[in-house]
Amino acid sequence: MPKRYTITAALPYANGPIHIGHLAGVYIPADTYARYLRLKNRDVAFICGSDEHGVAIDIKAKNEGKTPKQIIDYYDQIIRKSFDNFGISFDNYSRTSSKIHHETASEIFIELHEKKKFSIKETEQLFDPQVKSFLADRFVVGICPICKNDEAYGDQCESCGSSLNGTDLINPKSKLSGSQPKLRKTKHWFLPLDKYEGFIKDWILKGHKKDWRPNVYGQVKSWIDNGLQARAVTRDLDWGIPVPVDGGEEKVLYVWFDAPIGYISSTKEWAKKKNIDWKPYWQSHDTKLVHFIGKDNIVFHCIIFPIILKNLGSYVMPENVPANEFLNLEGNKISTSKNWAVWLHEYLEDFPGKQDVLRYVLTANAPETKDNDFTWKEFQTRNNSELVAIFGNFVNRVMVLTHKYYKGKVPISGKINQIDQEVLNSIKITTSELEKKIEQYQFRAYSQDLMNLARIGNKYLADQEPWKLVKQDPIRVKTIINTALQIAAALAVLSEPLLPFTSQKMKSMLNLNVGWDEVANFKNPLLLKGKLLKKPELLFTKIEDATVKIQLERLKNNII
Ligand code: 2FM
Ligand code: ZN
Repeated sequence: MPKRYTITAALPYANGPIHIGHLAGVYIPADTYARYLRLKNRDVAFICGSDEHGVAIDIKAKNEGKTPKQIIDYYDQIIRKSFDNFGISFDNYSRTSSKIHHETASEIFIELHEKKKFSIKETEQLFDPQVKSFLADRFVVGICPICKNDEAYGDQCESCGSSLNGTDLINPKSKLSGSQPKLRKTKHWFLPLDKYEGFIKDWILKGHKKDWRPNVYGQVKSWIDNGLQARAVTRDLDWGIPVPVDGGEEKVLYVWFDAPIGYISSTKEWAKKKNIDWKPYWQSHDTKLVHFIGKDNIVFHCIIFPIILKNLGSYVMPENVPANEFLNLEGNKISTSKNWAVWLHEYLEDFPGKQDVLRYVLTANAPETKDNDFTWKEFQTRNNSELVAIFGNFVNRVMVLTHKYYKGKVPISGKINQIDQEVLNSIKITTSELEKKIEQYQFRAYSQDLMNLARIGNKYLADQEPWKLVKQDPIRVKTIINTALQIAAALAVLSEPLLPFTSQKMKSMLNLNVGWDEVANFKNPLLLKGKLLKKPELLFTKIEDATVKIQLERLKNNII
């Protein structure tokens, strides 16, 4: 394992709150990975921030009669709070409106401009004569030339996923005035992606066929097979980072040029606070860079941003980009505009203290290889039949028995039989499996292996029935409880990446102070005899049918 990790999570647009799709797609897997690496004593920079430029912000501001600054200030706060509430353990969460980001993005643009890495071209772009403005990206809608969806945007068709230019749209209409745009000449800076096809082919298509997810690899391959084209990295807009070179007046950097640079500026901000050098986190060959994103961001993280970094010279390439597919909700696509979503701040009002339940359910059903569906029914079933009936039940049972028989003190183990030994062996075996799964970005499998260890503990107690042996074989009872407590201790540590709140509670109840590697090399007891445990607290509680019904009704009533 490399010693230094830079882990980035896609910068969310600061034009709305965070919903379960964001959490499942990007932030829970990224956080699970970062927490695991910290437990393995790696040097980790887990980086994110609000994405505050681009047309999406401007449109929201125009719709609400506010300024873009008012919009980003408002949502940046809400987003930060949600991440914090759900235990997303960023080392730094920055903003692309910050001074350090404006400076970093401008410096990078100037460097590429001076190295003559851009081509500067005059092209015809859509212009709204009524409001006297060019119509960049989402300021224009029309019919997709590929799938004929009549709500395609000037940068992308969300129906077929094609990347578009405004001028590709059939029958385009301005989002600003509803009028039909005219063509007008304007000058822009282009990144000639076509020159780097060979680089992408060697690096990804040849180099990462085996270790990258097939969905990511497949998307990159299809971009390359269709041939890369030069992409404009500037826009005629007034919201964004001003183009910092001559001729760039009244133009700004394209949001997808500046946003990924936000990872670098957020790292710089973090390093400055810690008084350390940011450069090794981006430029040292013993750093492993991993981008966690959703599938709609693949081209930017696997093609465009790497080409920018390559042109700068000294940067490392991402080692992996484990992009997730999409999470649907009750059979339909999650939609902010239709309010078809489960918003995190609303979830917390209805399920206070149940952050780990959502973290678990979204991971157990993570859209790692295909789009998946979140249903409230599954949420309830996973909570009641797995977290409550297996994990929580096992931990509670062994804690209660320890208090009942030994006043909360860990009993000394007697002679271990084959069944006890097999159960104890499962600690080491499971830990090694969990490590593999996390290191290969298989978080669903990690969640299930973790639950299996709880299942082993639960079955062990149920089969051994220590409560029936109290009088006739007290030494055997001590051995069973001691063995079960070792499993509970292992679960407390191994669950930390996924269930940080539960893990914390368990560690405190068990009075436990051991690290991941002690569990991985399990030889000596994790809980020593005589250790005093705190009073047991329930880790999870049942979710009733009525609660699920309320959520389903709320969703249907909310829909716009
Ligand atoms: O798709 C999005 O939500 C973008 N705001 C992601 C940006 S990721 C990065 F490159 F900054
Ligand atoms: Zn389309």
